[in-house]
Amino acid sequence: MGNTVIVGTQWGDEGKGKIVDLLSEHADYVVRFQGGNNAGHTMVVNGKEIISHLIPSGIIQQKKCFIGNGVVVDPFVLLQEIDYLTANGIDTSSHMLKVSNRAHIIMPYHRVIDSAREAKKGDNKIGTTGRGIGPCYEDKATRRGIRFCDLLDFEFFKEKVRSILEEKNFYLEHFFKTDTIDPETVIDQFKEIKDRLIPYIDDVSVILGNGIKADKTILFEGAQGTHLDIEHGTYPFVTSSSVVSGNAANGSGVGPKNLHEIMGIAKAYTTRVGAGPFPTELFDEIGAKIQATGSEFGATTGRKRRCGWLDMVILKNAARLNSLTGIAMTKLDVLDDLDEIKICTGYTYDGNRITDFSPDLKLLDGCEPIYEVHPGWNQDISGITEYDQLPENAKKYIARVEQLCEVPVKIVSVGPGREATIIREDIFR
Ligand code: GDP
Ligand code: IMO
Ligand code: MG
Repeated sequence: MGNTVIVGTQWGDEGKGKIVDLLSEHADYVVRFQGGNNAGHTMVVNGKEIISHLIPSGIIQQKKCFIGNGVVVDPFVLLQEIDYLTANGIDTSSHMLKVSNRAHIIMPYHRVIDSAREAKKGDNKIGTTGRGIGPCYEDKATRRGIRFCDLLDFEFFKEKVRSILEEKNFYLEHFFKTDTIDPETVIDQFKEIKDRLIPYIDDVSVILGNGIKADKTILFEGAQGTHLDIEHGTYPFVTSSSVVSGNAANGSGVGPKNLHEIMGIAKAYTTRVGAGPFPTELFDEIGAKIQATGSEFGATTGRKRRCGWLDMVILKNAARLNSLTGIAMTKLDVLDDLDEIKICTGYTYDGNRITDFSPDLKLLDGCEPIYEVHPGWNQDISGITEYDQLPENAKKYIARVEQLCEVPVKIVSVGPGREATIIREDIFR
């Protein structure tokens, strides 16, 4: 396997964690390059479910894991996750896991501002995960952020916290009319955890660069999905990071020539958590059935995921934006007992046919999807591990997706477990 990037093609929760866990077997290093603990990645190994929010899913296969400079890290959540994985028998000591010294820290005031903003927006809220992601990336962009390297000089860290909180407290008190935050309390909280964090802090870019020279194979684990990308998604109903494959290089500090395969993860249907446009959303009993059969609840916030048919306008968009070299189609088993399955090939809006994804929220909210109707297979496929054994109608569905987005479906996932996977060609060069 060459260095491989895993990205979500839809609005997140496509099953990236499962595929990263599976492919980790063939990697030496696994790296997260963006997002933070807004992510929830689920692995099911020997029937046991493990959910990670920050630490790369490759930790389950005990590969060396890295949190890159593009990630925003809540250090309290990081330590909780280290404890949770350790309790599950997984080695998370500092020789297995490194956090970039350039990664920005999600501070307690970021979480408070995230929630206060959403509450103030009322019905217009984005439906964020409330983890402080947006406010942390915002401080990074306006050059007021605190980075992991700052923890190595605690006097400097203290000065920074005191000075930043002067401004944040003015904002909290006068704009949100909420409680202010005492800088000394924040400093004390960090004093308690800093000695545990310090062994994990390192120059991830340099380690990966040395690894590349030594022929190590890297798996880049994306979070969220292409249509939550800050540039290309359904703005402003997006997350605050660059989600697409190009950022795998930038967000981990390696050059783009080191990205060899780009695997887009696509659910066999579409889901979305939080607010924002979703042209193929189903509000009928079929949507409810997919939600129930697919257990579509958010792995981070537990919210019900909105469900709808597969949308090829967004999948084609993801293929182009990410340079996909392959697709892993997940949760095909969830469609097992549907008589008819629809694929959206375009939208109509104002009498026009739309085939490219638009930035216009009015269009995305008001358009009518154009559907092709495909016959279902009415058969349990969850035990199938060979492509040839899939029912003809399932194979036709996959072939049509490949034809429409011009990317081969290299992996088909038919259940949450590592074993419930069909690998279609030898992608592990
Ligand atoms: P991620 O955020 O992309 O890693 O995805 P999540 O873990 O948030 O959500 C995917 C959910 O679908 C998890 O509960 C997985 O265990 C589950 N899952 C993944 N692949 C399959 C599959 O092929 N079939 C079924 N039935 N469940 C799957
Ligand atoms: P994984 O990696 C699904 C959504 C939130 C909200 C929007 C902004 O598990 O696929 P944020 O807290 O990032 O400011 O919220 O983005 N969102 C996700 N939806 N899966 C995720 O991650 C998500 N991470 C953020 O629901 O709509
Ligand atoms: Mg998820």
